[in-house]
Amino acid sequence: MVKKQLTGIIINPKENGNVELVQNGLVEFDSETGKILKVGKSKEKSKKELAKEEFIIIPGLVDLHSHIPQLPGVAKNADELLPWLKNHIFPLEVKFSDLEYAARVSKFFFTEAISLGTTTIVAYASVHKEATDVAFEVAKEMGIRAFIGKVMMDRDLKRYPEELPLMSRNIKDSLDLAKKWHNSNNGMLQYIFSPRFAASCTMKLLEKTAAIAKEGDFFIQTHLAENQSEVKFIKSLFERERHRVPTNTHIFKKSDILGEKTLLAHCLYLSTPELLLIQESGSKIIHCPTSNIFLQSGFMPLRRYESYDIPIGFGTDVAGGYSLSMFNCMRDAIETTKIVNLINDNRPQPFLTPQEAFWKATLGGAKILNLDSKIGSIEIGKEADLVVIKPEPHFKFYNNTDDVESILENLIYLPHTYKIVNVFIAGKDRFIKNTN
Ligand code: GUN
Ligand code: FE
Repeated sequence: MVKKQLTGIIINPKENGNVELVQNGLVEFDSETGKILKVGKSKEKSKKELAKEEFIIIPGLVDLHSHIPQLPGVAKNADELLPWLKNHIFPLEVKFSDLEYAARVSKFFFTEAISLGTTTIVAYASVHKEATDVAFEVAKEMGIRAFIGKVMMDRDLKRYPEELPLMSRNIKDSLDLAKKWHNSNNGMLQYIFSPRFAASCTMKLLEKTAAIAKEGDFFIQTHLAENQSEVKFIKSLFERERHRVPTNTHIFKKSDILGEKTLLAHCLYLSTPELLLIQESGSKIIHCPTSNIFLQSGFMPLRRYESYDIPIGFGTDVAGGYSLSMFNCMRDAIETTKIVNLINDNRPQPFLTPQEAFWKATLGGAKILNLDSKIGSIEIGKEADLVVIKPEPHFKFYNNTDDVESILENLIYLPHTYKIVNVFIAGKDRFIKNTN
């Protein structure tokens, strides 16, 4: 056993949805087993010592949707979704056929995520089996907790700059990768089946993917109802193939993609029957607010969806989103609830609070991945996925450090007032210090 202790202000999400603050807190963990041994108060300190408390300790952040090969394409201002994919994103993803490049970008991606406090990430690689294998290899090396999948697409719609694998090859490659990587690295790595979106998948590919993912009890990730032109395009594409479906969600219902382990990214344009299908299936919605603004996709009505009791988690969706920071994502999620109110001014809803946003980015995300017995909060017996934050003097200038609301507002809105200085994943120090 190698015991390690951290002291500081602990900010900890709780089962009842609250976020607790422990002043003068202490977390002890075993860096060999990775398990948390103690959470509580450190030795008594005087008021004066408390005033200069050095660190804030939070559980590792959980990013439920992003794209590894797209990181070099962030902040490329662009058109809306479909032309952006064709003109910027597909050409970037094709470069992953170069495995040396794929390794470099994967390293850059996970380094950036960890340095921003993300300890669990759900990500798409590219259509290439070998590059997806490389992404897993790099994730293993860096010790991040990750769900990764090969992008499944078996139709190019004249948009894709290289030949796409056939349906059967998509399935075989994904299964081979799942066999090799699922539950590897002490369970830190999992395979996730990743049919890109209905526009790039035939009904056969969707059906086959759903069948094998469910047989093997895997998670599935895809995109749904992100952009109005995309919704129309997909509907007419499937109608032309004589699939009688009233909405795009019915394509996923018909192919059996919906289910308790299905993560549906974006979901901006959903009718009541679609929400009922999603609710009934137990699928989860992944809100990507930064991307929704950046690509002019729109504003997801989070409060409306919550009224259907559909679990909602957060994703950065790089490169639709320009940042891998989950604090940035939390801020945009809060601001989006205000914008939705401005649009629907006849029915204003309470906007998302910093505590709710933080809960969703930690314990809420862990619950969506069925990992809440292991991660998502700082509790004895859980894995030590911990982020250590050093507030700069102006952090305290803006906000009172006795109060959880103030600290979270500061963390979410004022990233220039603190630095993330250490990140532990399963008790191991995984932070890459900038040596320049
Ligand atoms: N829909 C299908 N593929 C993508 C993608 O790579 N990014 C986003 N934001 N939406 C998608
Ligand atoms: Fe995406």
